[in-house]
Amino acid sequence: MAEAKYRTPKGTHDILPEENRFMTYIKKAVRHRARQAGYQRIDTPLFERREIFERGIGSHTDIVEKELFTVSAKQSDKKEDAFVLRPEFTASICRSYIEHAMDQEPQPVALYSIGPLFRHDRPQKGRFRQFHQFNFEVIGLADASLDAQLIQVVTKIYSDLKILDRLNLQINNVGTSESRQAFIEALKDYFIGKERNLPELDRKRLETNPLRLLDSKEEDTQILLKSAPTLDQFLSDESREYHEALLSYLTEMEIPFVQNTGLVRGLDYYSQTVFEFWDESTGAQNAVGGGGRYDGLIELLGGKPTPGIGFAGGLERTIWHMKEAGVQAPHKDQVDVFVAQLGPEAKRKCLSLISELRDRGVHTIGALGEASLKSQMRHADRFGAKYTLLLGQMEVRDGTIILRDMAAGKQEQLKIKEAIPKILKLIGEKNLDTYTIKDYLGHVDED
Ligand code: HAM
Repeated sequence: MAEAKYRTPKGTHDILPEENRFMTYIKKAVRHRARQAGYQRIDTPLFERREIFERGIGSHTDIVEKELFTVSAKQSDKKEDAFVLRPEFTASICRSYIEHAMDQEPQPVALYSIGPLFRHDRPQKGRFRQFHQFNFEVIGLADASLDAQLIQVVTKIYSDLKILDRLNLQINNVGTSESRQAFIEALKDYFIGKERNLPELDRKRLETNPLRLLDSKEEDTQILLKSAPTLDQFLSDESREYHEALLSYLTEMEIPFVQNTGLVRGLDYYSQTVFEFWDESTGAQNAVGGGGRYDGLIELLGGKPTPGIGFAGGLERTIWHMKEAGVQAPHKDQVDVFVAQLGPEAKRKCLSLISELRDRGVHTIGALGEASLKSQMRHADRFGAKYTLLLGQMEVRDGTIILRDMAAGKQEQLKIKEAIPKILKLIGEKNLDTYTIKDYLGHVDED
């Protein structure tokens, strides 16, 4: 095959049919668990004003400092015409909560989203420039039982997808913004006179975002941190009680967790609870998902002080785990019937036959080209069709058709009008794909 002239941009990939089956399966599990727990779906634009993320995620975080994709109206260089592709859902959803006065609705408002996000990361394993998340937010109330319930929903999803045993839940409390500020000051004091021993990147972080030092991968930094003040020394009694309550709820729900006082997360808006689902074998790298409480975010975006908690899981990393664990994504893409034909009259008859089979819920494809019957049969095999219906010139003349059972390698001749009832019987009523929108949930199939 010739070398492709055009390829997907660096850090992006096509979601080919096989990958899409996993995506669909994950989305189904997410929607199912979201509905059970009263979450409603929200979709926000793929691009937003830059300030929303600057204020929310923080201007000195990696995401905002280095990873935003700018989108601008071609004819304009005015600042207000420049937007960025969304790097996450949370800030956008909080913007929407304020814009649509959702504080007037019964609280908390529970929302979920599934869709693509964009971060101009350095591409590597599990890290892409366009990736997908499923995301949950619970806004309007702060109670440790809400944190526990959100974690439980996520746990159930990973369990449904059969990868929960590959993951562990890391959890911490990062306190209020006041206690965090006091800790940051103490950390800065501790590093006075030690800056020269820090690698350059961490020296810069000490100035711009000292909390990021805590999850630095640099050995020198980690050694220095061993005798540095720790965040938990600065937690208020209230934060401690909140955390204890959350851990007791998790224990009650039999959700195992690892307390990790070093877990801070890479986004500035968090307060109190933070948590991540880590890969059992590789740890912090490539967490499949993470979240936490953001009680100050709505106010930062211009709303009234309103608490919130949320979580986002990466679809690509989830799929990776499913494949590693040998989990199959069930799908409905199988071909039931392949219709092969020869001659103009047969071709004409096949068109209505194919159409009727499809309407009756039979997945049907047909070779309507001029290929020989032999090569059409090869095609049927490659598509994995269960049955082939064969209509040649002779059959047209006799009003018959040949039905071949592909697995058994057996065939029989039928009257053409018997073909459809016979196929329906062979496939079985319950396997027919007769999709119609009905007004009860079992049959609504969102994308
Ligand atoms: P996050 O930790 O930045 O949190 O992202 C959550 C998950 O998205 C990650 O654990 C990972 O699975 C996936 N992810 C992030 N970046 C990439 C990437 N470049 N390539 C592939 N997958 C990626 C948030 O986004 C927060 N908004 C979560 C949240 C919701 N907090 C409160 N509410």
